[in-house]
Amino acid sequence: MKKAKLSVGLVHYPVVDKSGKIVCTNVTNLDVHDIARACRVYDVDRYYIINQMKEQLMFVSRLLDFWRTGVGANYNHMRRTALTMVRTASTIEETVADIGGDLEIITTSARNMEHDRQTTFKELRESLRDNEKSYLLLFGTGFGMADQVFPGTTLLEPIKGVGTQDYRHLSVRSAVSICLDRLLGPW
Ligand SMILES: C[S@@+](CC[C@H](N)C(=O)[O-])C[C@H]1O[C@@H](n2cnc3c(N)ncnc32)[C@H](O)[C@@H]1O
Repeated sequence: MKKAKLSVGLVHYPVVDKSGKIVCTNVTNLDVHDIARACRVYDVDRYYIINQMKEQLMFVSRLLDFWRTGVGANYNHMRRTALTMVRTASTIEETVADIGGDLEIITTSARNMEHDRQTTFKELRESLRDNEKSYLLLFGTGFGMADQVFPGTTLLEPIKGVGTQDYRHLSVRSAVSICLDRLLGPW
């Protein structure tokens, strides 16, 4: 049973592309719906789509309006329910300000990274259960969040699979679901 408030943020900027260049990625319909559903299942407080491009946020707002109040709301109640916690923000800073209060930012990556503040799934699960502060769990798009996002945050250990090749590059939707179950699941 969690006492803390946990929000999820999907970062479209700043992320890196294949060549390591900092870019802003486009929102995908699947990421909005699938991650919102996972957030609903695990009682996440808010799911922020973070994108600095106005047109992209307008696309998300139109999509949310359709499913929350438009034709879609009557067509599929389950989807409307799943989307209630979705918010938009232009930047990570704006997301942090919107949540407010005593907030710890948790970052994720498939890679092994050097970082001064790291946590394990076990430790973070216990923190979520035992204290009442707020957490923002950030996930990347593109080829992952840019280096500048990580300072001042706590890095969560990567999800490791099995097999000799140590392949870990999950889609962001899979990564969110696995993390939420490890952190909040009633197992
Ligand atoms: C790099 S993006 C890839 C986006 C891609 N366009 C897709 O297929 O969804 C995937 C994000 O999911 C998370 N992720 C993926 N694999 C992970 C792992 N093994 N451990 C922790 N987080 C992981 C990280 O937040 C990462 O930035």
